Amino acid sequence: MNNGREQWATKMGFILAAVGSAVGLGNIWRFSYVTGDSGGAAFLLIYVLCIFLVGLPVLLAEFSIGRRGQSDVVGSFNNIAPGKPWVIGGVLGVLTSFLILSFYGVIAGWVVYFLYSYLTGAAGAVEQGGYADFFVNFIGGATGPVFWQFFFMAVVIAIVFFGVKKGIELSNRIFMPLLALILIVLAGYSLTLDGAGEGLRFLFTPDWSAFGDPSVYSAAVGQAFFTLSLGMGAMITYASYLPKETKLPNAAGGVVVLDTLFAIVAGIMIFPAVFTFGLDPASGPGLIFITLPEVFAQMGTGGTVFAILFFFLVAIAALSSAISLLEVSVSYLMRKMNWKRQQATIIAGVVVTLFGIPSALSQGGPLTFTLFDLPFLDLVDTITDKYTLPLGGLFIALFVGWGWNQVDALKETGLTDSIIGMIWLWFIRIIAPAGILWILFLNIF
Ligand code: PFF
Repeated sequence: MNNGREQWATKMGFILAAVGSAVGLGNIWRFSYVTGDSGGAAFLLIYVLCIFLVGLPVLLAEFSIGRRGQSDVVGSFNNIAPGKPWVIGGVLGVLTSFLILSFYGVIAGWVVYFLYSYLTGAAGAVEQGGYADFFVNFIGGATGPVFWQFFFMAVVIAIVFFGVKKGIELSNRIFMPLLALILIVLAGYSLTLDGAGEGLRFLFTPDWSAFGDPSVYSAAVGQAFFTLSLGMGAMITYASYLPKETKLPNAAGGVVVLDTLFAIVAGIMIFPAVFTFGLDPASGPGLIFITLPEVFAQMGTGGTVFAILFFFLVAIAALSSAISLLEVSVSYLMRKMNWKRQQATIIAGVVVTLFGIPSALSQGGPLTFTLFDLPFLDLVDTITDKYTLPLGGLFIALFVGWGWNQVDALKETGLTDSIIGMIWLWFIRIIAPAGILWILFLNIF
């Protein structure tokens, strides 16, 4: 039945991989800077609403499409609805996952560089207050960002080359809980800092006027999709390696709750520190790379150990997310071109890495690469965040809500004749598409 396609070794293997895909740079790096940029608590509240009103239903929809379709993101749509235009959603998924991986590798490269700099002692030797310069000098360099992007992508390619199941399962079982632990310890430390009160207020006490700002809603939907790996077929692809028995709603609920907890704890770790060190919460993508080293420096000698652990574990979390991004193209190419896994991985991996170079070089310095007045990295991020991700999500919701036979869709989730099934169906039919359409409208006009 599976035409020789791989399957997860255990139920737990799938859930771990799905959590591994969801939890990554999005929860720590992107969540912190987008929350900071979007004003804090009002954003957080809208974001959590988006996660449960749009993210959870769409995640369950992706799981159902993948398991029923038993193919890559394009093939799964085709298998369920042959000859119908829904497959455009699949093509969009391949495109979006490619674009995201191109810059995801760059940011992960920054993380690995920080890990390396703490290991060599270079980062530990920077004076307090000097980390903004340390960071800006690095990302503005001509070779460093590309070197570390290549390094990270080489590891991603090597793992996907040998097949997704092996490795991820083990690494997620050990490193995810460790990452959770270190985030909690660091958050606890942040709460002892002078700026703790201000940081917590920023994160949890909404400024009501912010609810009138449409860009906050747009940022929240984009972040919800990004952090849950939605709208680009990663979760469809992973669910396609599932045997029938796994209970999809439980898996979806688990992924959503864990992913959201990771982000909130990361917020509690970051914002007290931001205010303690007098940094601007809206300072953009550099936020964690500037704030956290200041925290580690403040911790004294133990700080370096924490820094090493932190950047190592974040790099591993980024790895399992990047693997799922590459797997979308690899699984598509294997079927479409009839390539072996190895060939598909090398070709897709090399092309996406090369496409990431202009992003790696777009952050200041002599080779700054910009297009439409935006640094290339920011441009690719904007295209995916504002357009292709929500559009992909819209296709998925509309397909499951309206395109797919309702009885079959409910059967696939195991929610036939249940209230939860009915609620899910109406969310996926009306609430999620309406919300996404509104955001797309805001973003386009
Ligand atoms: N969800 C990942 C994160 O939060 O870092 C990023 C990601 C992975 C996005 C896989 C999309 C994807 F398909």
